[in-house]
Amino acid sequence: MTQRLGIIGYPIGHSISPIFQQAALDHLGIDATYEKWEVAPEEVGDFVAGLRAPDAWGINITLPHKQAVLPFLDEVDEWATAAGAVNTIVNRGGRLTGHNTDGPGFLRALEVETGYNATGTRALILGAGGAARGILLTLARGGVDSLVIANRTLERAETLRQLAQENGIKAEAAPLSGDILTRAAASADLIVNCTSVGMSHGPDEHSSPLSAAQIPASAIVNDLVYNPLETPFLREGAAAGAVTLGGLHMLIYQGVLSFQMWTGQDAPVDVMSKAAFAEMASRGA
Ligand SMILES: NC(=O)c1ccc[n+]([C@@H]2O[C@H](COP(=O)([O-])OP(=O)(O)OC[C@H]3O[C@@H](n4cnc5c(N)ncnc54)[C@H](OP(=O)(O)O)[C@@H]3O)[C@@H](O)[C@H]2O)c1
Repeated sequence: MTQRLGIIGYPIGHSISPIFQQAALDHLGIDATYEKWEVAPEEVGDFVAGLRAPDAWGINITLPHKQAVLPFLDEVDEWATAAGAVNTIVNRGGRLTGHNTDGPGFLRALEVETGYNATGTRALILGAGGAARGILLTLARGGVDSLVIANRTLERAETLRQLAQENGIKAEAAPLSGDILTRAAASADLIVNCTSVGMSHGPDEHSSPLSAAQIPASAIVNDLVYNPLETPFLREGAAAGAVTLGGLHMLIYQGVLSFQMWTGQDAPVDVMSKAAFAEMASRGA
């Protein structure tokens, strides 16, 4: 029986997960298909119920359904509960479990691609939306020493500062410009852009949240934005002499971890990575 996998979102046309997940399935000769499904908010419950069928292995979930699927699951793991969001559902004999591989994928990408180890480091998180929240919790679990959260809307940074403190991490909130930000950048081991600044077709596609002069050469600069592959922030980081990592790596590694949950097999990371970068290149990213 051919197994079914896929991703739901609304809209979903932009997703490249089917490209690199199918490449991995085909490479390992696994009899399964990975599709993308546009599911409207009112259809989420019925769609998730259908995943209990014997030929369904599970799905990925992207915006805006990462919270909406929660009430339809039998169990939600510790990571997804902490994040308050599910990006992976696994069907085992009709029982559905919810997981979140976004945070672990972010950290795995940094560890593998840059050698980063969160323990004892100082991190600067730019942004305070859903992605920033997940990354904050991941870094807290990874043993980060302290965090600065800088955001255009200061109240949202303050909310995340409190969340960091509740998780036992020293934290400070800052605006997305000015002296506190410059000081935080100067002493950061890791700087992560979790804003949509620099994203193609976004309102600030040619901007970087920090200039090269603000970035220390010793820092690791990670942009979650992956379209374009080389963002203005990554260019500033490279100009500063810092190690840089683009957002496509996080996307690939969250998929790697989901793949392993569904299939029980090690994911062919190189195959997935090659397929993902080729697809982005073909889209002109
Ligand atoms: N690589 C991956 O796998 C991956 C995974 C998740 C997300 N992402 C990317 O991460 C980014 C954030 O995603 P999200 O889900 O956290 O979105 P979100 O919840 O909508 O948060 C957006 C963040 O960007 C800030 N922002 C938006 N426009 C801005 C501007 N013009 N100037 C300054 N700040 C601005 C917002 O600040 P305010 O609070 O002031 O509005 C907020 O902090 C997106 O680009 C998304 O594509 C990548």
